[in-house]
Amino acid sequence: MHIKLKNCQPGHFYAVGVGPGSPDLITLRAANLIQSADTVIVPRSELAGESLALVTIRDLIGEQEVIEHVYPMKRDSAQTRSCWAEVATEVATRVSAGLSVVQVTIGDPMIYSTSSYLIESLTELLPSEHIHVVPGISAFQATAALLVEPLTLQEDRLTMMPATDMAAIAHALKHCETLVLYKVGPRLRQLAALLEEHRLLDQARLACYVEQNGREAIFRNFRDALTDDSHGYMSTVIVRVGNRSWEQNPPVGEVA
Ligand SMILES: C[S@@+](CC[C@H](N)C(=O)[O-])C[C@H]1O[C@@H](n2cnc3c(N)ncnc32)[C@H](O)[C@@H]1O
Repeated sequence: MHIKLKNCQPGHFYAVGVGPGSPDLITLRAANLIQSADTVIVPRSELAGESLALVTIRDLIGEQEVIEHVYPMKRDSAQTRSCWAEVATEVATRVSAGLSVVQVTIGDPMIYSTSSYLIESLTELLPSEHIHVVPGISAFQATAALLVEPLTLQEDRLTMMPATDMAAIAHALKHCETLVLYKVGPRLRQLAALLEEHRLLDQARLACYVEQNGREAIFRNFRDALTDDSHGYMSTVIVRVGNRSWEQNPPVGEVA
């Protein structure tokens, strides 16, 4: 078998997902683009000691210029957009000079990712055909795989949201069969109380630092996670609310 791999083209930008953290979950396309790039932009939150994306791709870095970009963790849209607009100018200068630039991101670039802000600003500075996105394995997919529990079957509805708004979560629990929650860390106990209220605590799983060497922790029993407060930001919760079968939900106009 011969796989034709894509190298970076001069004068192009690539937002590249690198998966949840294990280097062997980086796609071949992503690895090849990172290795062939002139510049690699690595995002790091102001709260993190190191960039998880950089740790993931470390073995792919050689001669490329690496720019670590520290971004704010405040829930302030204007500040976030202005920070990424600055990076976009830096990227566009290089791309317009014929260099290839890759921005790496944990998981997938289209799911709660800084890449989306960067792309938003870049569309005003570069021709759209010079902007590319390479999908990565998202944390919720890696979590479901580790649990060996399907996310959806038949007519099931999958909902995803940050664990920031308990009222929104309570609403979602009534309108989906599987709920994925990101950014759980500090709200673990509040979330557990809500799930208990809905009699769903036994159907909830917590996965922390999935596929990150030496740090991974999987809680099939959510109660076990409540004994300590140190689970942090890199945590994903999957709640299996129920199931919606073909038989109970025939397509509109069809009789079961
Ligand atoms: C800014 S979002 C990034 C999501 C990412 N783009 C994706 O596709 O999974 C950060 C959130 O993703 C989840 N996450 C990312 N990587 C994770 C991992 N390795 N283990 C558990 N959760 C993770 C956590 O909920 C974290 O708060």
